[in-house]
Amino acid sequence: MDALLTAAGPEAQLSRLLGTAPHRLVAGCVTTGRWESDLRACLDLLADQSAAADGLITEAVAPVVAGGKRLRPLLALATAYATWCCAPDGAAPGRPAREEVCERAVRGGAVAELLHLASLVHDDVMDEADVRHGAPTVNVREGNIRAVLAGDFLLARALAVAGDLGPREGALGCATFVRLCEGQARESATLFDPARTEDAYYEAITGKTAALLSAACRLGAMAAGVDAAAEQALADYGHHLGLAYQLVDDLLDLTGPAYRLGKPAGHDLVEGVFTLPVLHAVRERPRLAGPLAALREDAGDGAVQDVLGEVLASGGPAYARAAVAEQTRHAAGALSAAAGALTPAGHAMLSELVTCLAGRTY
Ligand code: FPP
Ligand code: MG
Repeated sequence: MDALLTAAGPEAQLSRLLGTAPHRLVAGCVTTGRWESDLRACLDLLADQSAAADGLITEAVAPVVAGGKRLRPLLALATAYATWCCAPDGAAPGRPAREEVCERAVRGGAVAELLHLASLVHDDVMDEADVRHGAPTVNVREGNIRAVLAGDFLLARALAVAGDLGPREGALGCATFVRLCEGQARESATLFDPARTEDAYYEAITGKTAALLSAACRLGAMAAGVDAAAEQALADYGHHLGLAYQLVDDLLDLTGPAYRLGKPAGHDLVEGVFTLPVLHAVRERPRLAGPLAALREDAGDGAVQDVLGEVLASGGPAYARAAVAEQTRHAAGALSAAAGALTPAGHAMLSELVTCLAGRTY
């Protein structure tokens, strides 16, 4: 059946998401019972905002928009809730009314997700990728020209929603997408380079992943109207959570079972993206530099498996797991800095969210 016909609407997305670990975690913590209705409102807004007047772009992006874990909306909403919604009485002295906070957090979450979806559509063009969210990519279904247009469309829609929220939110949306582009450009500049430094790696993942998770948390904090110091601390929390998330993603690319990844292990090696475990391996075993650089010419299965075996044997995964633990500690430190703006239950929820996302095995 055509993938478009199977693209799930907001209701089906909602029941899929409510079965996933991070959404279950937040739903279980929010005593006000708002989770389902706020998430549904965000999914409806995403469906609305990804629809174009003539239907052409709507159809092109439908399978991409329907999929994914919706982590960015989850972070925006969870951050806003953590400031007061977890309290039994939902008391928020001196803060905006609950309805207004939630409504703004829903829109903030949609901004972050639309930016994410725009970047995925463009990323699939650059990578000539075939599959996204279990369906053929926009570039495969519609060609590169329509895929670039569709990504531009989602980006513009994201920035329009951000601008409607206010000038600070609009500026944040723009600055965040700039950082995504910078991160992506940094990654492209070091492809197949065994001398890539750890700093270069961290700069790339800060831009391509952590900046947007940080922005999602900041949008939640802005919706809740916390003070500037708490807003910054919550943005820092999202930054460290984002680094941990990408470190785990990169680790799973090397160690995750192929049936879970939906692609063979070592896909990043084939693409020339040398991640932290690989950089550790080449430092421990400098003779690996030659075979790594040679992957540019010969990324056949044998060459990839040889390098992968060396990376795993060098202790690269354990080194990356230690880096995840370090980012988890930094995220906890940022939450402590924001503690004055969080309820105890909200603090615990955001803390558990890090454990949940950094501990994922799929
Ligand atoms: C998976 O997120 C994706 C990332 C962690 C970020 C990847 C970054 C890029 C593709 C940068 C692209 C930038 C430009 C400017 C083209 P996820 O696991 O939350 O994905 P999901 O939506 O599938 O759940
Ligand atoms: Mg890519």
